Amino acid sequence: MAAVLLVVLGVALVSRAQGPVVERRTPPPEGPSQPLPYSHRQHLELGLLECADCHVNPDRGRLMTFPDTDTCLSCHEAMPASAATLKRLESARVSSTPLPWTRVYRLADYVYWSHATHIGAAIACETCHGPVAERDVIALETNITTKRGCVTCHEARQVLSDCGDCHEPRQ
Ligand code: HEC
Ligand code: HEC
Ligand code: HEC
Ligand code: HEC
Ligand code: HEC
Repeated sequence: MAAVLLVVLGVALVSRAQGPVVERRTPPPEGPSQPLPYSHRQHLELGLLECADCHVNPDRGRLMTFPDTDTCLSCHEAMPASAATLKRLESARVSSTPLPWTRVYRLADYVYWSHATHIGAAIACETCHGPVAERDVIALETNITTKRGCVTCHEARQVLSDCGDCHEPRQ
């Protein structure tokens, strides 16, 4: 019994010492309104899609990008039941303009950032963006766009802490 208690206490202490590296905002703020009421929860529940089907990291760089209209139409073209969505997607295709999604997570331009490095370090999307697959609307759920959101993890992992690692001039 005492041994079990010690183990439980030990686990609690360890997780407290590490702390939540990227902090959650609770309750999360409201997300922006979007050109279509696209829901991650509704789509990921289908069990047919993965993040990488819609978010790629071109040239292993800064951005994850948004899916092109054809990705959406690959299903919606055959779904006349959601007529309004289909109409909006088709007019985007006809005019060759991507849907104007409102960005939620955005860093100041003077911050050097790369998704590629962090995905390469096996950090899950959810660590920085929260439980996206459970969300109907994406909101700024964590403090990842603040310096504290970056530095707390870098300190915990003992990686880069020089000003020049995240700001100009970058060597
Ligand atoms: C794998 C197939 C698939 C892909 C890819 C897909 N959808 Fe859907 N979408 C669905 C299904 C299935 C539903 C649910 C219909 C229902 O339950 O009534 C849905 C529902 C929706 C809805 C809810 C309202 C409505 O019209 O039913 C919107 C809005 C939507 N999708 C937009 C998008 C957008 C934007 C994209 C591209 C970013 C996309 N979808 C990609 C299959 C897909
Ligand atoms: C069918 C395509 C599709 C899939 C699959 C998908 N997403 Fe998205 N994602 C979108 C679209 C469209 C938006 C823009 C609308 C919005 O913010 O909800 C978006 C927005 C986001 C954003 C907010 C970006 C910003 O800052 O504006 C994050 C974070 C994100 N997705 C993460 C994920 C993760 C993590 C997964 C896998 C669990 C995933 N997405 C799967 C289509 C997709
Ligand atoms: C270590 C934290 C971190 C991880 C891990 C992470 N992101 Fe991000 N994400 C960010 C930050 C910071 C931004 C804002 C970047 C900017 O403004 O240039 C962002 C922006 C985005 C955006 C919107 C703008 C764009 O095109 O980049 C999408 C979409 C996105 N992330 C999806 C994902 C997906 C999908 C994954 C997992 C494969 C993921 N992110 C993993 C921190 C992270
Ligand atoms: C959850 C942990 C975590 C968070 C949060 C995080 N990082 Fe990192 N970062 C790492 C790790 C681990 C590495 C080392 C990767 C390697 O060496 O392969 C790294 C490396 C880097 C590098 C050097 C590699 C490169 O791409 O040049 C920069 C710059 C960087 N991070 C910037 C940021 C910024 C800016 C933020 C906040 C927006 C941030 N990081 C948030 C874990 C994190
Ligand atoms: C791991 C990445 C990282 C490191 C290391 C880092 N910064 Fe930052 N810094 C950021 C981010 C992210 C922001 C944006 C903060 C925001 O918009 O809330 C920022 C913002 C700033 C700003 C704008 C004002 C402010 O505080 O919001 C200044 C000035 C600054 N940093 C100076 C420094 C100096 C000096 C160092 C070295 C002691 C340093 N930074 C180290 C990521 C970093």
